[in-house]
Amino acid sequence: MSLQAGDTFPSLTLKILGDKGPEDVTTDSLLSGKKVVLFAVPGAFTPGCSNTHLPGFVMKADEIKARGVDSIICTAVNDAFVMGAWGKAQNADEIIMLADGLGELAKAAGLDQDLSAAGLGVRSQRYAMIINDRKIELVNVDAKGVDKTSAETLLAAL
Ligand code: BEZ
Repeated sequence: MSLQAGDTFPSLTLKILGDKGPEDVTTDSLLSGKKVVLFAVPGAFTPGCSNTHLPGFVMKADEIKARGVDSIICTAVNDAFVMGAWGKAQNADEIIMLADGLGELAKAAGLDQDLSAAGLGVRSQRYAMIINDRKIELVNVDAKGVDKTSAETLLAAL
């Protein structure tokens, strides 16, 4: 069963690339007392995620935050070095690049997928959430494309 609106976001310790290397960060510290848009992608630097999905959130970050969102989080089953490099390459200064290197979040959310056939192994599905003080208010999942999980769609839902 995957996470649904009304559920509490899982408490996990993941990684973010800091100035001196990967740092632990808890989902509780990222989400407690905050309104957050979180989106998950199958892989950093993959074409759909790099050409469309993340750039949309980079472009719309100010508009999203103007609707009362404290933080925008992008996560993928990639290590903190890759997530940090991807955020830098995309000028994603306003987006928290959250590394789910072991796939713990994707699995806890029930939103993992096996992309072994493409050589990627177990990854996250493409999904987006609106989360308020750890409570999930909206979950959209895209099996293909980015229509339901785009920055524009999330902006319209806020
Ligand atoms: C993408 O371009 O978004 C993509 C490519 C391969 C696997 C998953 C996603």
